[in-house]
Amino acid sequence: MRRNHWVMAVLLSGVIFTVLGLANTSTNEPFLPGESPLPPPTQTEGEEAYEKVVAVLSHKRCVNCHPSGDRPRQGEDSHIHNFNVQRGPDNHGMAAVKCQTCHQEENNNLSGVPGAPEWHLAPLKMKWEGLTKSEIARSILNPENNGGRTLEETVHHLTEHPLVLWAWEPGVDASGNPREKPPVPVDEYIEAVKTWAAAGTPIPED
Ligand code: HEC
Ligand code: HEC
Repeated sequence: MRRNHWVMAVLLSGVIFTVLGLANTSTNEPFLPGESPLPPPTQTEGEEAYEKVVAVLSHKRCVNCHPSGDRPRQGEDSHIHNFNVQRGPDNHGMAAVKCQTCHQEENNNLSGVPGAPEWHLAPLKMKWEGLTKSEIARSILNPENNGGRTLEETVHHLTEHPLVLWAWEPGVDASGNPREKPPVPVDEYIEAVKTWAAAGTPIPED
């Protein structure tokens, strides 16, 4: 039954792509992926979009993993991680207590250990704890800090990376209480990231 659904989905998407492809070649101005026929957003629209983006980035679900020191944070009050967990030389923890010893690919809602693929601490250069809104923007746009990413790669990371999307499926903590989600719904956030980028990443004043 499931399998049939898959087959249907694959066939259907094939049909849709073919139709789109034909439609595209019949006009002389094919759309490039990601290009919109609408005029680009204005600077004000871009700044408003960034306010939504940074409301997410400065939320504890992100900052707990993007801290300023060598220890991850936990919980709604961002307390220092239990068990003396440390960054370690490669951001994956110390030999005896690697992040992935406890953190699996998915949340474990029995033990309250959150999980997502490649769970480890953001490098210090990617710390946002203690930064202002405009400093966070400059940091994620600066290849010196952001792991050498182009804007396109940063948009991709912000909108598709499993550690980012985990924040909207954060599971429950060790006491069984659901973790708070970021203040902007995920679809609205993804839209805001794209609008901000399309507007030329204007940075509002703090
Ligand atoms: C489990 C820890 C973890 C969580 C939670 C997490 N990140 Fe990250 N983040 C990382 C790691 C590790 C990297 C570095 C990955 C790399 O460079 O390969 C990273 C890198 C990034 C980068 C690219 C580097 C930069 O400074 O631009 C962005 C953007 C980012 N994270 C956004 C977010 C956002 C937004 C959230 C919350 C919605 C979030 N992250 C939550 C661990 C985390
Ligand atoms: C000994 C097991 C263990 C190890 C090792 C470990 N963690 Fe955790 N971690 C936990 C548990 C348990 C929780 C949940 C605590 C709670 O929320 O009640 C947690 C929660 C977290 C959170 C909180 C998520 C949130 O937003 O509240 C982050 C971030 C985190 N760990 C990052 C790391 C990183 C990065 C490493 C490696 C440097 C690591 N952990 C190593 C057990 C571990």
